[in-house]
Amino acid sequence: MRGRIVGMGHFLPSRVVKNDELTAFMETSDEWIVQRTGIRERRWVEGDVGASELGEHAARQALAEAGLEPADIDLVIFATLSPDLNFPGSGCLLGARLGIPGVAALDIRNQCTGFLYGLATADAYVRSRLAKNVLVVGGEVHSTGLDMSTRGRDVSVLFGDGAGAAVVSLSQSESGLLDHELHADGRYAEILMVEAPASRLNPRLTPQMLEEGRHYPRMDGKAVFKHAVEKLPEVVHSVLRRNGLQLDDIALLVPHQANMRINELVARHLGLPPERVVHNIQKYGNTTAGSIPIALHEAVLEGRVKPGDLVLLAALGAGLTWGATLMRW
Ligand code: ACO
Repeated sequence: MRGRIVGMGHFLPSRVVKNDELTAFMETSDEWIVQRTGIRERRWVEGDVGASELGEHAARQALAEAGLEPADIDLVIFATLSPDLNFPGSGCLLGARLGIPGVAALDIRNQCTGFLYGLATADAYVRSRLAKNVLVVGGEVHSTGLDMSTRGRDVSVLFGDGAGAAVVSLSQSESGLLDHELHADGRYAEILMVEAPASRLNPRLTPQMLEEGRHYPRMDGKAVFKHAVEKLPEVVHSVLRRNGLQLDDIALLVPHQANMRINELVARHLGLPPERVVHNIQKYGNTTAGSIPIALHEAVLEGRVKPGDLVLLAALGAGLTWGATLMRW
């Protein structure tokens, strides 16, 4: 008995923002962004739209694919670094949107690895019979929280808005979630973070902090890059080894979409041909907790994943956090 994804959904806001459009706010170019990241465009919300609203669209699609109603869900897990509110969590808000008052909800704050932490948690809940059907959502609204001036250009060109969702249910079949390997190393917390407002600052936010842009994400891009190209192949090999598998057994690798160069290097280190690695960063940028469920669902809809295929998901992000999920589709 194991948890299995029985339905998926994803949602991207309709506003497409091409690289050229960013040159209205900051000194950058389509050429720089494409060459360093592979990103050509991303999606931005319009007006006051929080992560739970994007998550609701993805969740309703996942429920429909699973042939379930919101009332069938007994746990909502929401992975996001851009919650609607500082508290309460977006999981609670999503439960209200879905009309399921009283259903347990929790938020996961593990950035780009958040969806993998969510899948592992859902799997543990259904295997231990604490839940029957768990809704796992990963979603972000980044566009309203980025420094769109030249000062923030190294970060703000990378991110986009979007959400993905999966329903995980208990299954007796051979298919489903086979293994999870999760890691975190807070020694590197400051290479990618939003510093303020925060409880360790007193006061938490001042006009000077706003002036200095300390409420925007800040990143040591080269350090993140270096960790990603080291740790992603390492965690992939580790999961394969402990399951007695070879890379040849894996039909598809769905890596977190942070940077095309990272994913191409990881694929090269692993010796995986392009047709067995999913890329959609060119269309959406980095949607953080949304990135893996969006990419996996697109791959399924495109027929790149067949029943019985072994699929690996792998991610690294702020925290640092990283990990991999092995599943049989
Ligand atoms: N447009 C034009 N020029 C830019 C831009 C921009 N958007 N951003 C930075 N530059 C400039 C810099 O100012 C610098 O100029 P200088 O040489 O005059 O000082 C030059 O370009 C080179 O900058 P670097 O930072 O050295 O560029 P690098 O080659 O490292 O690429 C990048 C930057 C793309 C951010 C890269 O480091 C990267 O992808 N790192 C990984 C980031 C990542 O994956 N982050 C997400 C993690 S997931 C999560 O948890 C949210």
